[in-house]
Amino acid sequence: MLGKPLSRVITLAWLGLLLASRDHPFGFAIPIRRTVVLLYNKPSGVVTTHEEIDVKGRVNVYQDVLSMCGFVSSSSSDLNKTLQQLTGVNPTEWNAVGRLDADTTGLLLITNDGGLVHHVTNKSSKTSLELGSPGKTYEAVIMGYHDNDSIVIRTIREKGVDIGHKYGGHTEPARDIVVLEHPSHKTTKVSLTIYEGKNRQVRRMFHALGSGVIQLQRVSIGANLTLAGLEIGQWRILSDDEVLDNLKWAPRTIDSPRRSSKERTATSTLKRSRR
Ligand SMILES: *[C@@H]1O[C@H](CO)[C@@H](O)[C@H](O)[C@H]1NC(C)=O
Ligand SMILES: *[C@@H]1O[C@H](CO)[C@@H](O)[C@H](O)[C@H]1NC(C)=O
Ligand SMILES: *[C@@H]1O[C@H](CO)[C@@H](O)[C@H](O)[C@H]1NC(C)=O
Ligand SMILES: *[C@@H]1O[C@H](CO)[C@@H](O)[C@H](O)[C@H]1NC(C)=O
Repeated sequence: MLGKPLSRVITLAWLGLLLASRDHPFGFAIPIRRTVVLLYNKPSGVVTTHEEIDVKGRVNVYQDVLSMCGFVSSSSSDLNKTLQQLTGVNPTEWNAVGRLDADTTGLLLITNDGGLVHHVTNKSSKTSLELGSPGKTYEAVIMGYHDNDSIVIRTIREKGVDIGHKYGGHTEPARDIVVLEHPSHKTTKVSLTIYEGKNRQVRRMFHALGSGVIQLQRVSIGANLTLAGLEIGQWRILSDDEVLDNLKWAPRTIDSPRRSSKERTATSTLKRSRR
């Protein structure tokens, strides 16, 4: 008699969590929550995952941020606080806006606003289609000596690359790809901006053209968000204006635990189909 209601409660809690996490990660937290966005200069060897145990002993981006070690603020009283005291965001509510591979460094946004994650990472999202999705600029050191007119560079600039059906098919042309310098006779440093967010897209694009990526750093997102003022491993909290101007996303009050009728319908449909 005891087992059944209990298991139902647990099932419902899981379903709720599952559905809530789509739009507002862990949408249960009670207080009124607002969009908070962290701009983090991710080191190599820090992983973009919520898994807490890593076989190679690496920390994840959330652990690194929650440790407050790299926090940069102009207000010294802020430096003494935990991230939760500072932002009101529950530690479990943070989500990276897209991923950076373990060995990719640079600009990673972390937010408590699931809608913002969807907006920036999904080019087909409603807001992205309406407002345009922010570009993501990378600097990559690739194998081979290339210049602005080399076939690899021109292909990426003019045609895009087929990175395989499994990984999202043909990429859009990256019109602004330029060769920056040659770190050696056998390598080339390039800069390019992409507006899509296919899995490991930059690495796969060059790989598909026969030029492996040796080093990859994301240097900016949107019109103006850069790593300026942040050493590797450091991060800061973006102002509402920075979020609005650069990501074209208005910081907002995030929906409270009360779910929309659409989501409630989805829950009951799920429940029914499970019987
Ligand atoms: C910083 O933290 C310490 C120890 O928790 C506390 O004693 C001190 O008052 C705090 N300082 C500020 C400026 O908040
Ligand atoms: C992206 O958004 C579109 C439209 O909302 C949706 O159909 C699609 O499933 C989303 N893709 C991902 C990977 O979430
Ligand atoms: C490639 O083109 C860009 C932009 O026109 C220019 O700044 C850069 O110096 C060029 N690189 C080389 C290696 O010619
Ligand atoms: C970009 O940054 C410059 C200088 O910091 C500033 O003047 C400009 O308004 C910013 N543009 C946007 C769209 O944020």
